[in-house]
Amino acid sequence: MHALIIALVLSTEPPVDASTAKAKAALMPFKKSLKEALTTAMEKSPETAIDVCSKEAPALAAKFSTDGVKLGRSAFKLRNEKNAPADWVKQAMESLSKEKSGAEASRTVSLEGGRTGYAEAIWVGAQCLVCHGEAVAPSLDAKLKAAYPKDSARGFKLGDFRGVFWAELPAK
Ligand code: HEC
Repeated sequence: MHALIIALVLSTEPPVDASTAKAKAALMPFKKSLKEALTTAMEKSPETAIDVCSKEAPALAAKFSTDGVKLGRSAFKLRNEKNAPADWVKQAMESLSKEKSGAEASRTVSLEGGRTGYAEAIWVGAQCLVCHGEAVAPSLDAKLKAAYPKDSARGFKLGDFRGVFWAELPAK
């Protein structure tokens, strides 16, 4: 009886294909080190943390983009235009932004040349509001404006769709 129930529960889980699993695994060290760097820097000061986000985020994405895998972050409302989405990322974001806030949602798509694209939703947490919320402290505001004159990643509320972590895998 128990075995039957377990089997039924398992069969309702969406199948995680190999590409999705590989993309998740490729993103893991990037996400983990970025989170650690941000948390450590925030304990010092948000001003220090701005430098982490602007320098470390792209550096970490590059560091973990090995073996033909490309990693990054993107959003509709961008702080850094260099994070602008590729077409497939934009489409994935359009779909992901409609998911329930906080959902662990992702999309895996086939790209030209046998490549695979994977994107997962990022939702705004409390610690993000310091630099992406509606009220940004004056000293931070000045620093952000100086570094990102075209910053549009402001005014977010808790639980809003912030953007995605994405990965592109090479052809098998
Ligand atoms: C200390 C300030 C600070 C905090 C706190 C912060 N960010 Fe950022 N965020 C930045 C900066 C600066 C950039 C631009 C990074 C770059 O130049 O690539 C950025 C960029 C991003 C991007 C890339 C897209 C874009 O707009 O360029 C995403 C996604 C993002 N942040 C999400 C978050 C999330 C989610 C949190 C909370 C877990 C968070 N941020 C917390 C400062 C911050």
